[in-house]
Amino acid sequence: MPTALFINGPNLNLLGKRDPSQYGSRTLAQIEADVVEKGKALGLEVACFQSNHEGAIIDFLQGRASKAKGVIINPGALTHYGISLRDALADVRLPIIEVHLSNIYAREEWRHRSVTAPVVTGQISGLGWRGYLAALDVLAALIKEGR
Ligand code: DQA
Repeated sequence: MPTALFINGPNLNLLGKRDPSQYGSRTLAQIEADVVEKGKALGLEVACFQSNHEGAIIDFLQGRASKAKGVIINPGALTHYGISLRDALADVRLPIIEVHLSNIYAREEWRHRSVTAPVVTGQISGLGWRGYLAALDVLAALIKEGR
């Protein structure tokens, strides 16, 4: 089964407790379980990874990307300043979907800028945990099309 990488960055381990008005009340474990299950239904194995450290995320990408078919990533605050992560994503020759639980364009101005957006295939922002499932639908279709 083709593998999709599902990556969550800093502070997303606290989903459920962390500002539920922005990020919802579901935990990352619950969301990951849904994504893995939906992945199976779509014929994809989903490898989940969360870290609060930019370098650990880059190590995971570098170690796994060559055997994977696509990436879903919520870089958390690294979205706004993570140039090393941006460069690592630019080197991944796979479809990449960037997801934000909150609508980053409706929040503080400094959240409007994503340094990772220019090197990903597309972005979903503001749809809560459902954004990850929507991303998986799109990713599965792109992988099927061989993109
Ligand atoms: C986030 C938005 C970021 O601005 C923030 O730093 C996060 C989460 C989101 O999912 O809405 O940690 O990526």
